[in-house]
Amino acid sequence: MLLQMRQITKTYGTLNANSNVDFSLRQGEIHALVGENGAGKTTLMRILYGMEQPTEGLIQLNGKEVQFMNPTDAIAHRIGMVHQHFMLFPSFTVAENIVIGNEPKAGLTFDRKTAVKQVEALCATYRLPIDPNKKVADIPLGMQQRVEILKVLYQGADIIILDEPTGVLTPLEAKELLVIMRSLANQGKSFIIITHKLHEVMEIADRVTVLRDGKVTGTLEASATNVEELSKLMVGRDLLESARRDVQVGKTVLQVKDLSLHGDKGKPVLDRVNLHIKAGEIVGIAGISGNGQSELIQAITGLLPIEQGVIQLLGENITGRSVREIREIGLSHVPEDRYQWGAAKEGTVLDNGTMGHHQTRSRSGLLQGKELRQMVDRFIQQFQIKAGSQETQVKYLSGGNLQKLIVAREIAQNQPFLIAAEPTRGVDIGAMELIHEELLRKRDEQGAILLVSSELTEILKLSDRILVMYEGRIAGELSAEQATEEQISLWMAGGVSDA
Ligand SMILES: Nc1ncnc2c1ncn2[C@@H]1O[C@H](COP(=O)(O)OP(=O)(O)OP(=O)(O)O)[C@@H](O)[C@H]1O
Ligand SMILES: [Mg+2]
Repeated sequence: MLLQMRQITKTYGTLNANSNVDFSLRQGEIHALVGENGAGKTTLMRILYGMEQPTEGLIQLNGKEVQFMNPTDAIAHRIGMVHQHFMLFPSFTVAENIVIGNEPKAGLTFDRKTAVKQVEALCATYRLPIDPNKKVADIPLGMQQRVEILKVLYQGADIIILDEPTGVLTPLEAKELLVIMRSLANQGKSFIIITHKLHEVMEIADRVTVLRDGKVTGTLEASATNVEELSKLMVGRDLLESARRDVQVGKTVLQVKDLSLHGDKGKPVLDRVNLHIKAGEIVGIAGISGNGQSELIQAITGLLPIEQGVIQLLGENITGRSVREIREIGLSHVPEDRYQWGAAKEGTVLDNGTMGHHQTRSRSGLLQGKELRQMVDRFIQQFQIKAGSQETQVKYLSGGNLQKLIVAREIAQNQPFLIAAEPTRGVDIGAMELIHEELLRKRDEQGAILLVSSELTEILKLSDRILVMYEGRIAGELSAEQATEEQISLWMAGGVSDA
């Protein structure tokens, strides 16, 4: 066995993030690690990568015990990790990002020419083409991830840990990644992949280990299991199935007219976008990310100035208004990038759970300290958020648990209009069902919801109407009854049809 983690326990205060975990990896294997939010997946991998020390237990490489005090130790033992959130420098080139920390030098200065040559050779060896001279900020997310992988390969890794690598990728990019992993595994590399997408597990993994509440509930050959069995091992209970119910739509809540916006390169990012959303309906926007969805949301929420067009919320013209004014008129927003916009990382669960709620009125006036605490308690119970206490800083929450806190907070704002951008990114299947149920409930209560998601299944399941965005334009619109995956995919890829 290439790697064995034996009886790993990791304690934070009174919480056992990992309890007596046994985990192994064969050479050339792709081993998936799955489990609910907060099950301890990232913790186990941070231990393997030397970012944390286990409270108990040991790690063996090729049968010999090793101890990693930090990632440098792990890298020296040919272990590399690509984190849940990318850690690249956007203003540096691809080559610079790959060699950083191990830069080739000419005398005392950075030898750019050699760096580019080395990166080109690396790309050739592993058949992962990329332009080393491009700025990272200018390449799509799928390519940025390739840079992360190349960086780990440059450091000499034979064991590569990927923490939710497909979360931010388009379906096509995700497929490509799986192909790359298999090809590298055939060349002798070994992978550990954390994912919430069980179909990916079935597609790519040789073996799969399931964690629940910090304990292993099973290690199985992927060929001998299925999605149902894995869900059961993960969740330990049956999932609720939510479905759309019939509801009467009301008055128009959001109206976007002829919205246009140009990027810095003169190309339109938004090109005469028209759309409306009524009370009691979910309008889903499908599209490959980067086709104007983010800019549309930023324009509606007041984060991006509008060049042309009008946006009305509840009949009021909100064009040019500030984020705060628009929120006060009636908007709540689950942002796409929760780390940039959604959360104050140094703040506590209480701080983050109540952001924007201080103006909320209860029967006795503005919400006060005790009521705010009770509200956050409700969030924690309803969404089964693993948070320690309300005083825990959210930087200690697992990725999915922070996402659930933000979704709960925004839905609870009780605003007439909600923008939900990638609302289930990074959450486990049980939490996904819960969030879907809450969005549908809000809609049933005459809420108007703009849902932006790169998961087509999510769009199809929740939306009453579906708009497809392509290159800044609305390429097509379908009602829930008319919608088919084929038609949407065609429009998403820029195809035209007469449907
Ligand atoms: N430094 C820390 N201090 C306190 N608690 C922590 C710390 N790091 C992690 N935890 C807790 O340990 C538990 C496991 O977290 P971990 O990040 O490993 O979960 P995960 O399985 O990766 O979940 P997700 O799918 O949401 O990313 C969580 O309850 C988390 O809040
Ligand atoms: Mg995690």
